[in-house]
Amino acid sequence: MRIIKVSDDVATRVVGLAGSLRAESATRMAVRYALAGAEEEGARVELMDLAAYDLPFLGREKEEPGARVVERFRADLRAADGIILGSPEIHGSFSGVLKNALDLTGSDEFEGKMVGLVGVAGGQMGAVETLSQLRTVGRSLHAWVVPTQVSVGDSSTAFDQQGEPVRPEVGNRLTSVGRQVAHFARLHKCENHLQFVKEWEGAPRTSDAINPKPVTR
Ligand SMILES: Cc1cc2nc3c(=O)[nH]c(=O)nc-3n(C[C@H](O)[C@H](O)[C@H](O)COP(=O)(O)O)c2cc1C
Repeated sequence: MRIIKVSDDVATRVVGLAGSLRAESATRMAVRYALAGAEEEGARVELMDLAAYDLPFLGREKEEPGARVVERFRADLRAADGIILGSPEIHGSFSGVLKNALDLTGSDEFEGKMVGLVGVAGGQMGAVETLSQLRTVGRSLHAWVVPTQVSVGDSSTAFDQQGEPVRPEVGNRLTSVGRQVAHFARLHKCENHLQFVKEWEGAPRTSDAINPKPVTR
C-alpha cells in the first residue's frame, strides 16, 4: 500500500479585519477569537488593525500620504490565504469603516481566498443583515466564503474584560469559523491532490459546523 505523507509544511496565513475603530470594540475581540481558531488549525495569524492603518476614503487613495498606506494595506491582504471579515451591525448594514477598507481592495486581494464572516450587534436579533451583505460582497470579489458564520448579539455584554466570550457557544462558533477558514485555505494550497483528498475526507461535516465540538482552553 502506498503511504501518503500528509505534510504539515503547507504554510497558511490568515488575517482578520474588524470594521470598528473603537478601542473597546467587541468586533475586534470577536475577530481575535476567530483568529485564535485559525491558529489552532496551524495558520499564522494577524489582526490587521484598521485603526492603525488609518486608510483614506475611496477617491483619495491616490493622494499621499494615503496612497502609501493603501498600497501597504493591499499588500498585507495579498499575502494572506484566508481572511476573517468582522463588522458591527450599523443601521442594519455592515460598517462604513469596513466598507471603505473593502472598497480600496479588489479581486487581486480576494479572488480564490477563503473568507470567514463575523457579525456583531448591539441588539438581541444579532447581525444577520451584516452577514448576508458581507457574503454578497465576498461573492462579488470572487472569494470562497465558508459556510460557517457567527452572529454575536448583545455586544455590550458578550465579552469579558479579558476579551473572552461570555457565552461558550459564541466562543465555539468563533473558533469554528477561524478553523474552517484555515483548514480550507490549507486544502486550497495543497499541490498534492492525494493529500487534498485525504484531508477533504477528514474535513468538518455540516453537522460539526452547526454543533461545533466544545473547545477546552
Ligand atoms: C450609529 C450606530 C448604529 C447602530 N445600528 C445598529 C443596528 O442597526 N442593529 C444593532 O443591533 N446594533 C446597532 N448598533 C450597535 C452596534 O452594533 C454595537 O454597539 C457594536 O458593538 C458596535 O461595534 P464595536 O463594539 O465593535 O465598536 C449601532 C451602533 C451605532 C453607533
